[in-house]
Amino acid sequence: KMMSQNELKKLVGEKAVAWVKDGMTVGLGTGSTVKFMVDALAKRIQEEHLNIIGVVTSAATEKQARSLNIPLKSVDDVEKIDLTIDGADEISDDFQGIKGGGAALLFEKIVATNSRKNIWIVDQSKMSKKLGSFPLPVEVIPYGSKKLFSKFSQKGYAPAFRLDDTGQLKRTDSNNLIIDLHLNEINHPHELAAYLSGQVGVVEHGLFLDLVNTVIVGYPDGPSVLKA
Ligand code: A5P
Repeated sequence: KMMSQNELKKLVGEKAVAWVKDGMTVGLGTGSTVKFMVDALAKRIQEEHLNIIGVVTSAATEKQARSLNIPLKSVDDVEKIDLTIDGADEISDDFQGIKGGGAALLFEKIVATNSRKNIWIVDQSKMSKKLGSFPLPVEVIPYGSKKLFSKFSQKGYAPAFRLDDTGQLKRTDSNNLIIDLHLNEINHPHELAAYLSGQVGVVEHGLFLDLVNTVIVGYPDGPSVLKA
């Protein structure tokens, strides 16, 4: 029987919580795949009486984690994060990633860069040879954002302001805007990351480079753990 994308997401989410050990502080990512992982984590905490502290990456994940009684702390109130489990929008062969499809890239990157280990969980559709087919999210301060947009346009990045369900400009958890860059192919991710980080008004971009060495991919015949 063919497994649906949701079933693949559920299986990798459940698989990932095996990396969680008693006493850990765990970064909790954002998105539909992570949602399954957080459910599975809450179940393990309850059944095995684990002492776990969660560090969330979005208001959405915070809401879910609270509803499941997972103890939470802010990244600033923990000494270290042992492990962060997050989704991704696109992952290349060499484990570089694009994130931010759910607009949570800023907190996700803060939590990821403060974690000793990062694991990404995805269904097979997210894997690609080279990054760029997924539009690259860039979080920008509203003031001056049209100027940044023009700059990106001139560079041939085919930018688009992200809209929410009601057609209004999408606001992030930090009340910023998202410009999605339609690049098709990213040949030099580190150079692009440095360029974007250097632009005044850019808060963060969705290139997550050199952060992950373990990826759990959902294939129709089961989850597969890939290591760099
Ligand atoms: C959130 O901003 C993203 O980085 C998510 O981690 C990403 O969009 C994955 O979400 P899904 O698991 O829903 O595809």
